[in-house]
Order: sequence, then C-alpha cells, then structure tokens
Amino acid sequence: MIDFNKKINPVFPSILSTNFFDLENKLIQFEEAGIDFIHLDVMDGNFVTNISFGPSILKAIKSRFPFKIDAHLMVEHPKEVIPWFIEAGADWISFHIETDDNILENIRMIKKAGKKAGIALNPDTKIEKVFSVLDELDYILFMSVFPGYGGQSFISSVLDKIKTLNKKIENMNNRPIIQIDGGVNLSNIKDIREKGINSFVVGTYLFNSDNISKTINKLKGV
Ligand code: DX5
Ligand code: ZN
Repeated sequence: MIDFNKKINPVFPSILSTNFFDLENKLIQFEEAGIDFIHLDVMDGNFVTNISFGPSILKAIKSRFPFKIDAHLMVEHPKEVIPWFIEAGADWISFHIETDDNILENIRMIKKAGKKAGIALNPDTKIEKVFSVLDELDYILFMSVFPGYGGQSFISSVLDKIKTLNKKIENMNNRPIIQIDGGVNLSNIKDIREKGINSFVVGTYLFNSDNISKTINKLKGV
C-alpha cells in the first residue's frame, strides 16, 4: 500500500487517454508495475464538454484487478451520482468545488460510506474556497489543466496555490493528501514534487510510452 509520506512519487494512471480496445492489457502492465490506484475521469458533457464513462467501467475493473479506484467526478450535480460510484466500489471520490451542490453534504456522504473524500479545483479557482471544509477533506485535487481532455500542457501557476495551501495546513494533524492532475510528465514531476504534492495523476504521457513499467519507475523516482 502507498505510504504518502515516502520519497516515492505515487503515480495514479488516468485511463482517459487509453485505447479502450487495449485497456485490459494496459491494466495488466500497471498491475505488474506495482500501481495501487487507477484514476477514473468521469465527465458528464455538462460540467465539461466531453463525455467519458460511468460506474460500469469502475465495476468491470474492480471485478478483474486489485486496484483501488480514485473517481474524479467532473459532473454538474455530484450529489446525484456519488451514490452510483460508492455502490460500484470506488475507494476515493473527488468532485468539483465549482458546482452548486452543498459541498459539506457531499463530503459527508462519501465519508459515511467509508470512502476517502476529495475536492477538485479548476486551475482558475481560488484555493481559499476550500478553507472552510479543510478539516473534513482526505485529499485535494489540483487541476493543472482545464478539465475535459487529456494531453494538455501543465499550467505552472497552479503551484502558487499549492504554496498557499501548504502554509495553511502546515500545523494540521491530519493534513489532506495533495493531488495534481493534468500535464504531468517526466520533465516536470520532480519540480512538482518539491512543492509538496504527494499524488500524481498521469494520463497521456504514460499511454504514449513504449515501456509502461520503465516509465512508471522513472515517474516514481525509483
Ligand atoms: C482532465 C483529466 C485528467 C487528465 C490527465 O480533465 O482530469 O485526469 O486526463 O491526463 P494528462 O496526463 O493527459 O493530462
Ligand atoms: Zn482527473
């Protein structure tokens, strides 16, 4: 199991950019490379213009592989779909703070089901928006690209927000895990790591790689 305080970078593959005909083969390679979590980008065509997948793919992965599933809900009404993902077996569930839902109610619904609850923030959303619920959160997902598509470039100004957050949480007993999502690759992961991030979502860079296992090891820094 991942120790989020260790030196190794925990890599969470996002399957958004995969060729779905080849998904099983890729998942086998992730398992062999020691991956613990798969990141699922759920898009509803409303919160973002893209549509991706729902809980049935989560169930299918869980039925065949031992991975934990980190469901990132890019949906307009998380309250309505969180129960689906709980039921399908998600282990971590994050939803966006930019939605009109009652944030605290959603966090509590996730935690009541024994899952880890996260808040996701778009690159242009102020970090101060999460301050009132910090004590309740297991993790915070910083989008380092605008949500909707894989393969975009990392927006480095997001790192300033992370600096502000780190100051705010430095004296907390149960500090939330900080996750970064979008545009992560081998040339920027070291700099990002130094800003205090302890969970790295990687999609396109991993799926474009010729040797997944080697690339994962390089990304992990081992
Ligand atoms: C974008 C998604 C990301 C994205 C990451 O909306 O949340 O998870 O797929 O993929 P890359 O690494 O391609 O930016
Ligand atoms: Zn994501």
